[in-house]
Amino acid sequence: MSIAESAPWASLSSHAWAVAKLHLRDLLQDEGRSRAMRVDAEGIALDFSRQNATEETFALLCSLAEEAEVPGKIRAMFRGDRINTSEGRAVLHVALRAPKGDSITLDGSDVVVEVHEVLDKIRAFSEKVRSGAWTGATGRPLTDVVSIGIGGSYLGPEFVHEALRTDPDCARAAEGRRLRFLANVDPIDVARNLEGLNPETTLVVVVSKTFTTAETMLNARTVRQWLTASLGEGSVPKHMVAVSTNLDGVEAFGIDRGNAFGFWDWVGGRYSVCSAVGVVPLALQYGMGHVEQFLAGAHRIDRHFLDAPMGRNIPAILGLFGVWNSTFLGRADRALLPYCQALLKLAPHIQQVDMESNGKRVGLDGEELTYTSGEVDFGEPGTNGQHSFYQLLHQGRVVPADFIGFTRSQRPMDVQGEAVSNHDELMANFFAQPDALAVGKTAEEVAAEGVPPELVPHKVFPGNRPSNVLLVDGRLTPEACGRLLAVYEHRTAVQGFVWGINSFDQWGVELGKVLAKRVREQLARSRKGGAAVEGFNPSTTAMLRTYLGS
Ligand code: F6P
Repeated sequence: MSIAESAPWASLSSHAWAVAKLHLRDLLQDEGRSRAMRVDAEGIALDFSRQNATEETFALLCSLAEEAEVPGKIRAMFRGDRINTSEGRAVLHVALRAPKGDSITLDGSDVVVEVHEVLDKIRAFSEKVRSGAWTGATGRPLTDVVSIGIGGSYLGPEFVHEALRTDPDCARAAEGRRLRFLANVDPIDVARNLEGLNPETTLVVVVSKTFTTAETMLNARTVRQWLTASLGEGSVPKHMVAVSTNLDGVEAFGIDRGNAFGFWDWVGGRYSVCSAVGVVPLALQYGMGHVEQFLAGAHRIDRHFLDAPMGRNIPAILGLFGVWNSTFLGRADRALLPYCQALLKLAPHIQQVDMESNGKRVGLDGEELTYTSGEVDFGEPGTNGQHSFYQLLHQGRVVPADFIGFTRSQRPMDVQGEAVSNHDELMANFFAQPDALAVGKTAEEVAAEGVPPELVPHKVFPGNRPSNVLLVDGRLTPEACGRLLAVYEHRTAVQGFVWGINSFDQWGVELGKVLAKRVREQLARSRKGGAAVEGFNPSTTAMLRTYLGS
């Protein structure tokens, strides 16, 4: 039976009509409701009192979670059941951050043991590179790293790198080192990332789960040419290493298996930042100790996610209100608004985690969904976003938002003569914006300020716009970064569990790749032999002719 035919779903559908009559301006006056719609756990205070919801809504959403068997599905994921049914795979990214001594058995072997074997290998390798014991072909230490990968083999690692870059401890550990990410097949990205680098001091990490992704493989060949042009073919073993599940592919490319760090088919690309995909580049830049703190943070949330009841479970609550907003209230978009510049790559990473996971059209049984799954994620750090797209959030469309802030800054600053510290100034905005969205400003309030009548409608804020507020205790450390990552990974899983979809495959990316192959073959034929463009529809044929100048 589809979840849409269940009693909690029907109750929520009719309840949505009742809630539509309520305004957050009034709901926020209720102290009991405010207390009931806040959870403090694992150093995160989650205030969801600005959802268009009552305590009854929350209870109904928790019943929906039970009806959809979310707790059982969470346990199945942690157990290693093959919940990625269309690919016959387990979904065990939580094993990547399980401490030594934990045990998860899959096909007769303990995957936690395998995880720690790879972590040990990365520890030894990264220490050699960082200490200068591992040198390049000309005997110089390798101080710069270019990580080549795309999608899940790039977005997570870059998100974490940016989050750690200005943490004082991480910055000290990274002194004298540079880490860059080459993702796009656009030659401009190659040029930008190689700019100012010396092949003699550069280590290249090719990151690809499949080791077949067209963009990554061309970029890897391009950068290998850049290296060997000045250092010779023999330099590859010293300057190129790989991260992949396809060790035969790595070898065929010309990288020694000994210089490859493996992971497993039970790690989805977009969930792979805690595998060698993220650990290799991040350990090279910051040292393994900081990476271990990051993994420990993610594990802390994994435990919370597994153990906490739905109504006290941060990822579950976020996921359930995601379902409420998108499915029941029809809000397709979601803004991620970290009030922390170091989280500037949170939204791009979660965009992939969420949209590649939950943008699906059929349920697990292959039947077309009778509701829409997935959300459109976007975001920018506050306060930059305020001067960009918040106009639309306040007076245009209703976009549920997550505000994420920290009680302390990575870089506290006080300017003499200022009333508050720079971090307090930032956080003043963090606390103000959710209320501006929720409470708004009525025509009467605007008029009472003496605004001329013809301007009043322009200055009205309708309010009643939902948001979550997540306040993290302390500063953004590697550990806190791991916690945030896991919160958002599991939030996505919860939504998928409720919608009854497979959040762990991504067949929707395939068609474009196949069509690009046909175009590539046509371009090769036309460029080399002058072949006419054929086999495409009239629009594409005409555009290809324009591109080729034929
Ligand atoms: O095209 C989508 C995708 O398959 C993602 O799911 C994945 O993260 C990315 O490509 C990169 O894949 P790979 O790590 O195999 O190069």
